Amino acid sequence: MKIDYKETTSDLLTRINIHDAYGSRDIDKWMLEVLPLAQGMTILDVGCGAGKQCFSYLAHLSGKATISGGDVSEELLAKAEEENAKLGNRVSFQTLNFNQPFPFPNQTYDLVSCSFAIYYAEDIPFTISEMHRVLKPGGNLFTTGPMPENKQMFYEVIKEATGKEIPPMPGSSRYASEIYKTIKDLFSEVKIHIFENPLTFPNVEPFLAYTRASLSEDRLLWNTFFQTKEDFEDIMAKITDVAQKWFERDGQLVMTKVVGGILATK
Ligand SMILES: C[S@@+](CC[C@H](N)C(=O)[O-])C[C@H]1O[C@@H](n2cnc3c(N)ncnc32)[C@H](O)[C@@H]1O
Repeated sequence: MKIDYKETTSDLLTRINIHDAYGSRDIDKWMLEVLPLAQGMTILDVGCGAGKQCFSYLAHLSGKATISGGDVSEELLAKAEEENAKLGNRVSFQTLNFNQPFPFPNQTYDLVSCSFAIYYAEDIPFTISEMHRVLKPGGNLFTTGPMPENKQMFYEVIKEATGKEIPPMPGSSRYASEIYKTIKDLFSEVKIHIFENPLTFPNVEPFLAYTRASLSEDRLLWNTFFQTKEDFEDIMAKITDVAQKWFERDGQLVMTKVVGGILATK
């Protein structure tokens, strides 16, 4: 499956900031609780973006681990390196395209993690088998992604605003099904942990900022909804009207993120 997708730094960081400001739970804290982390580990974070998870592991393990992050986006890697420099360059970041063989020997890592990225892989069995290959025996793979019930309110507002069916999203349409099954087939033990985080918006603006960043990030997936900047602004105007109506009716807007953390042992 060919997935046309390119994360931009500003869209990703806008969404991360909105989660931090309006969410009631902290996903990084939850990950640290679920993950079997220990000092001395060798960790690879695939699709590391601006390095959020790498820096969280580094702080949690007081710097006593070998942590690498790989991503296909040079722009996000540059952002990660900026932060890395401030922290004494303790993480090693490099270009990694998970649609190609990973440039690492077999059995290198104790933990491979991949947050909100695996569902952009063109060939899921290939990417997951690469993750499996570079893990040591007994090592863990941890992935996060949206469950089918994720962000229902977001999709309902868009549906009401446009009168159109939502196109299948690579995340919610593949994560709990194809991706979970592939991991189950390859690994000896698999557990799924659920993280629910309601984002409560006290006015429509942050919801609209989130929607803007989300639709523009995934613009190629939404190409039946908009092609040009004008179409995009037209859709955003309709979404604004519906969000305003819902807000007046309910007094607030609540969008619940439902994330599945798949923890697998090789
Ligand atoms: C939603 S972001 C998540 C980033 C980071 N893990 C986080 O949670 O902040 C998805 C990431 O997947 C990366 N990605 C997409 N396609 C990729 C590929 N073929 N190989 C490696 N990374 C890829 C993007 O560049 C982006 O950094």
